Amino acid sequence: MGIIWGEGNRFELNGIRFQFIGQLRELFALKEEDGLVLGKWRRVLDAYIDAMSGLSPQNIFELGIFRGGSAAFFNEWLNPEKLVAIDYMQAPTDGFKAYLESAPNAGRIRPYFGTDQADKQKLGSICSREFGDALLDLVIDDASHLLDKTKTSFNFLFPRVKAGGLYVIEDWSWAHMDDPDGVFRQRFHAEPAMSNLVIEIMLASARRPDLIPEVRVFPSCAFIRRGEGETGEDFDISRESFHRGLPIGGSDLFDR
Ligand SMILES: C[S@@+](CC[C@H](N)C(=O)[O-])C[C@H]1O[C@@H](n2cnc3c(N)ncnc32)[C@H](O)[C@@H]1O
Repeated sequence: MGIIWGEGNRFELNGIRFQFIGQLRELFALKEEDGLVLGKWRRVLDAYIDAMSGLSPQNIFELGIFRGGSAAFFNEWLNPEKLVAIDYMQAPTDGFKAYLESAPNAGRIRPYFGTDQADKQKLGSICSREFGDALLDLVIDDASHLLDKTKTSFNFLFPRVKAGGLYVIEDWSWAHMDDPDGVFRQRFHAEPAMSNLVIEIMLASARRPDLIPEVRVFPSCAFIRRGEGETGEDFDISRESFHRGLPIGGSDLFDR
């Protein structure tokens, strides 16, 4: 059964009620009694529907659980064999806990709370425990939205994505969006823009089309396809971007 869109920002999938956000503050304000809270705008859901068409990822790694709506959504929508999700929160919210305990398909989700997305050692032990030697079909990073941490996760997990698989970076554009209530200014203050990473990935794709054959950038999420190319030891995307033959990665392009 597919997504059944309902009134307002709601839909049902496999008999499970979901609600998604229309404004950022709803991430906190929506009540879990009205459905699992999915922290994505409709246009982000539409981007996923577009980008995932025809794919059936079996091994999924998601960073950033919050109220659990996205882990439940990807699990119900994509029918993976396994979906590992991490967050540095210590425990699930009540709504997500109820889903994990009672939904028929919830056993495919392996949540790891108390886990920082930049803790490579822990990410490594989770990958080994849950996936063994199998590669990942899909990684979704909707966690800190901080440049360094997001890059650390990318450098660690992108080499573990199989050829043809996708790596998604959400909310890459916070530094460039209209921010009338100052939400991003307050949350990220002087943090370097996440777009630095997406630009580095785009530049790397020019030099390494074997490794990154496609980058699809939507207004607030980017889908990066993994190619057959090797990443080598200690992969660092910043070492893969060049301008006229000179390495330019690792700096803040907006630091003027
Ligand atoms: C935007 S919410 C995730 C929303 C969820 N993916 C969804 O669409 O419903 C971001 C989550 O990332 C978590 N987070 C922030 N920094 C993190 C970090 N360094 N490591 C792991 N999780 C982090 C926060 O605790 C929060 O739950």
